[in-house]
Amino acid sequence: MLKNKGKELLFVQWLLLSFVLLSCINHAHAGVTSAFVRHEWPSVDIPLDNEAFAVPKGYNAPQQVHITQGDYDGKAIIISWVTTDKPGSNQVRYGMSDGKYDFTAEGTVQNYTFYNYKSGYIHQCLIGGLEYDTKYYYEIGDVNSARKFWFQTPPKIDPDVPYKFGIIGDLGQTFNSLSTIQHYMETGAQTVLFVGDLSYADRYEYHDVGVRWDSWGRFIEQSAAYQPWIWSAGNHEIEYMPHMGEIIPFRNYLHRYPTPYLSTKSSSPLWYAVRRASAHIIVLSSYSPFVKYTPQWRWLAKELKRVDRDKTPWLIVLMHVPMYNSNDAHFMEGESMRVVFESWFCHYKVDIVFAGHVHAYERSYRVSNIHYNISSGSPFPAPDKSAPIYITVGDGGNQEGLAQRFKDPQPDYSAFREASYGHSTLEIKNRTHAIYHWNRNDDGKRVPTDSFVLHNQYWGQSRRRRKLKKNHLHSVVKNLPRSERL
Ligand SMILES: [Fe+2]
Repeated sequence: MLKNKGKELLFVQWLLLSFVLLSCINHAHAGVTSAFVRHEWPSVDIPLDNEAFAVPKGYNAPQQVHITQGDYDGKAIIISWVTTDKPGSNQVRYGMSDGKYDFTAEGTVQNYTFYNYKSGYIHQCLIGGLEYDTKYYYEIGDVNSARKFWFQTPPKIDPDVPYKFGIIGDLGQTFNSLSTIQHYMETGAQTVLFVGDLSYADRYEYHDVGVRWDSWGRFIEQSAAYQPWIWSAGNHEIEYMPHMGEIIPFRNYLHRYPTPYLSTKSSSPLWYAVRRASAHIIVLSSYSPFVKYTPQWRWLAKELKRVDRDKTPWLIVLMHVPMYNSNDAHFMEGESMRVVFESWFCHYKVDIVFAGHVHAYERSYRVSNIHYNISSGSPFPAPDKSAPIYITVGDGGNQEGLAQRFKDPQPDYSAFREASYGHSTLEIKNRTHAIYHWNRNDDGKRVPTDSFVLHNQYWGQSRRRRKLKKNHLHSVVKNLPRSERL
């Protein structure tokens, strides 16, 4: 009897807890402002003579090696590297076993100046026709100082194929940045989605701007030479510096970090899309024209129509400036892009929009503000099941430090926020589920802090059930004798 009473009590407690949790999920009301206060740790750039920026040994040895996806579907890769003494070889030797290179590809080389800085010889080589889900070994550089690396191609595009992405933003080159990149590399994620503000070299003047782009290239090589980093540009890539005679935006960035924009018929390397495993990733530029009829607007309108959720169920958008942000820093800077694109994101059921820019972490509920039209009387974001989750991960650890002041009280759209350094991972399991983590750096330890199971916006449970039921009926019908089929 007592045992039964205990069970009943437990059941009632469980019911109450479920009700509270479900209420939190279904109704967007102000979420959590983390009480975690990060210990002071100076946000200064790592000195140039530190081993984090070590120049590889050997005359004219390749350095700043990094790779990115080279086509729409993941069967091509772009390998980039820099030589400093002379142009040297443009060749990539590659194959499927270590040290045995059955194939070669020939790249291009270029250099440029920025004020009185003269860049090294920047090599870029597009390799196409790769097999899916295959480990490739590659070698670059002249024979006496050649360097070897490897990468794994993604699995064939498939709606249920698992894949793990990392998300990093506003990285810079401080000891906090180093901590972020090291923690990221422990996660086993396979591709980085980078949400802008790379080197923070624009915090320097004159010759040193180029020097800090070089050190950053050597800094990220530990990860970026072995797996693709999908690039988007931030304000620190603009580098409009008229006092130095530098007035063309994005010059350093565009010379060094190529993107496969032509394969999606984009007219600019600053906005493009790639499909990888079970995800369709759209990269936007917060600092290029995006209002109606501009090239970026026209391109996005077409690209969203090309998304096929039967092939790539996960639709992810990257941009630099967040559309939903309750930090004092950069508050409402994303409004103009929100007004232009938010209704599209809801219409096409984007799963997540990742952004950076604000040096803190924040996650929104599923909300939209698409009904406001000045006279509608509904100017506030409201819960919207079709809306994406907006996540700001501008906390890679650059020299500008953290954005510590949040708006108080926490707005209804904000689910979780914390001013700490860190990075995120999105582990796609199948077409319906993915596991998301935000990992706080916490002075040397990787601490998973904000985690949840993400349900796909298109393949929600009801749709999945319908599909399974349909497939089941098909197989039942198929197994019937021909005479009994209707
Ligand atoms: Fe930024």
